[in-house]
Amino acid sequence: MSRRNTIAIARIVEETPTIRTFYFDYDLQAKPGQFIMLTDLANGEKPFSISECESDQFGVTIKKLGKFTSNLFEKQAGDLLSFRGAYGSSFSLKGNNILLTGGGYATPPLYYLCKELLRKGAQVTVVNGARTRDDLVFCERFENLGLEYKKITDAGCFGRAGTSVDIARELLSNNDYDMVYVSGPELMMKAMRELLQSYPGLNYEFLFERYMKCAIGICGNCTMDPLGIRLCVEGPVLAGHQVEKLTEFGEYHRNAAGKKEYFK
Ligand SMILES: Cc1cc2nc3c(=O)[nH]c(=O)nc-3n(C[C@H](O)[C@H](O)[C@H](O)COP(=O)(O)OP(=O)(O)OC[C@H]3O[C@@H](n4cnc5c(N)ncnc54)[C@H](O)[C@@H]3O)c2cc1C
Ligand code: FES
Repeated sequence: MSRRNTIAIARIVEETPTIRTFYFDYDLQAKPGQFIMLTDLANGEKPFSISECESDQFGVTIKKLGKFTSNLFEKQAGDLLSFRGAYGSSFSLKGNNILLTGGGYATPPLYYLCKELLRKGAQVTVVNGARTRDDLVFCERFENLGLEYKKITDAGCFGRAGTSVDIARELLSNNDYDMVYVSGPELMMKAMRELLQSYPGLNYEFLFERYMKCAIGICGNCTMDPLGIRLCVEGPVLAGHQVEKLTEFGEYHRNAAGKKEYFK
């Protein structure tokens, strides 16, 4: 088990009014797709994906939603937080001509993945979509990497209205990608799975979020039917051949009490 670390927030970057990246000066040695369990000592702990990771620092990019994240947004650089991890499976880094497709505040872990793919010499195209401009993050960071980068919002903030899946559909029909990596809201990923089913033989990996409690495979709250995959251990990154077999994907997830909640 990873040991717990208590550490000061090194800096906080306001990405949008409701999304911030918290940086920590720590050599986490995490792989792209992995997550930490972050504790604020008053409100318990929650999982967050690693959006940046270098030898001297790492970052997590957080959307303000409920009690835990609202309390985090009260913190300043220098305040202490505690974390354990990194946990979970990681993206395989396979492929030479690669499409990354992200949605909303789930896109940032693709940034860390993207940097690692570029380091190994892959050609990468990034699609970043969100409901509104306030949910679209990391645009400048991706643009600074000098790759093919496309952004879109449901609200049409940059001209055309649509989703990242709409753009991925066009790119897939005009390019010969050999790998696709996806991180986004579950219904967006469900639409991506349907799209990818038209490209049999094309490998892909998805990053999933499920309600996590222990993050070390004990409580069973994050298992996915019917494979019994524990997303905190065997996930959160799953390969296409696993995703194809998940009957609960895009249908329901389990809440804090372990009860099924259906996606609307
Ligand atoms: C592997 C993984 C990686 C994640 N990465 C990020 C990230 O990079 N950035 C980010 O903003 N959020 C991320 N999340 C979701 C994040 O953990 C929750 O949004 C956060 O816990 C909300 O807490 P809250 O008290 O502010 O809101 P709440 O009001 O408690 O919850 C808001 C929503 O978050 C979900 N949630 C609440 N607690 C948990 C939990 N323990 N595990 C999973 N989901 C929960 C609920 O289903 C609910 O829909 C990730 C979740 C998982 C499982
Ligand atoms: S969160 Fe407990 S088994 Fe995954």
